[in-house]
Amino acid sequence: MSGMKNQVNRVVSLNRLPVRQLRLLKQIGRLADEQGMSVYLVGGVVRDLLLKRENWDLDLTIEGDGIAFARLVADRYKAGLAVFDRFATARLVFPDGLKVDIATTRRESYAQPADLPTVQPASIEEDLSRRDFTINAIAVQLNQRQFGRLLDPYAGQRDLRARTIRVLHAGSFQDDPTRIFRAIRFEQRFGFHLERTTLRLLAQAASTNLIQQLSGPRLQNEILLLLAERDPARAISRLAQLKLFRFLPRSLSYTKNVKRTVTAVPKALAWWARRFPDSAIDRPIVYLMALSSEASQAVVATMIRRLALSREQAKKVSTGRRRVDRALKRLTDRKIARPSQAYRLLEDFSNEALVLLLAKQVSMQQGVRLSLLRRRLVAYMKNRTTKTALTGRDLQAMGLQPGPQYKTILGKLLDARIDGVVTTEADERALAHRLLKKSVLVIRER
Ligand code: CTP
Repeated sequence: MSGMKNQVNRVVSLNRLPVRQLRLLKQIGRLADEQGMSVYLVGGVVRDLLLKRENWDLDLTIEGDGIAFARLVADRYKAGLAVFDRFATARLVFPDGLKVDIATTRRESYAQPADLPTVQPASIEEDLSRRDFTINAIAVQLNQRQFGRLLDPYAGQRDLRARTIRVLHAGSFQDDPTRIFRAIRFEQRFGFHLERTTLRLLAQAASTNLIQQLSGPRLQNEILLLLAERDPARAISRLAQLKLFRFLPRSLSYTKNVKRTVTAVPKALAWWARRFPDSAIDRPIVYLMALSSEASQAVVATMIRRLALSREQAKKVSTGRRRVDRALKRLTDRKIARPSQAYRLLEDFSNEALVLLLAKQVSMQQGVRLSLLRRRLVAYMKNRTTKTALTGRDLQAMGLQPGPQYKTILGKLLDARIDGVVTTEADERALAHRLLKKSVLVIRER
């Protein structure tokens, strides 16, 4: 901890924080003074303050009993409180929605690599020493007289200036293999580089079965966080380069085509957001779909299981290469003339699958077909809310016997609406009558 002496007196201005956050931190500092405790701001928010990036996730740590202190703050400010005893952490939610996490400075031990750690109270320096990277191991004291004092025992500021990601010790990735993905996330987000030894340790860790030992939900969390970054394409290439798709028993192959699709996703997303601003997209899932867009159903199924995806996510991800390619081929074919045909091709597609279609077409760089596809998507999105005037009840009143005919006839009525063949209820009734007669004939002929 030799570096600490030179760093000890540096003070950082917290004025970049919004007034509300700043005021709260000052109040918390004074409250800690009353209790004779030391309180620090730690983690990503400190790093981002020094980088002048916006991040208002307040992570505090207390030398002393963090949970008891959190209770005190909750009482004083009428904040909601959730306590996680096992990790000696608490989350406060203030009446105006502001959230603050409070932990106890601690030492962690890992019973097994890749497990969640057990924790024991320790000093702030020890607390910083168990963290992932030097740039995330800087603390700012909040007690009134030391307000803004920087604690940087591992020269995180030097690494911030040198744009370097560096682990604090050789066992860091073993302790917590999620750090393999975190390293890449920060490297790509900030345009930093991995320090040499860190890169070697990461590659070493990645070549063992450490990642296999991570639980599904923890791995999912890391992968989806990585894919939620602003432009994950480079991070994905980096994962491929470092052979990190080994998180699947049968690894995804990052082929040229897949890479092209992944690279086209931002453009597809941007177009989608402009056209359909109210239609939400699960962006990380689109990337996961792009990433597995050439994989077999079996590999996709393995991926879904390994990442413990939710039922909804799994459904989206398993849209299937064949269906996507078929829809794409037909939708970029001028011969498909009727809007209802496009509607039927797309009706079971999630929004994410539609964005994937677009990305695939963008990656093919065929402008004319791309505009055709876009026009059809716009039409489809409009038609998606089209409804028939008649319902099953009306067909029943017309004398139709129960059976599969209901679905067929209502489907035809909807197609006719979408294609503009019928526009009024009367039109629809007339068409329904014709279809009914036909269906009766068909039944009689049998
Ligand atoms: N941390 C760690 N090892 C991990 C996860 C977190 O040491 N595997 C520590 C780091 O000090 C990190 C802090 O916990 O800065 C908070 O973690 P988290 O909120 O996940 O990360 P941030 O650094 O805030 O990253 P982001 O900006 O992506 O939220």
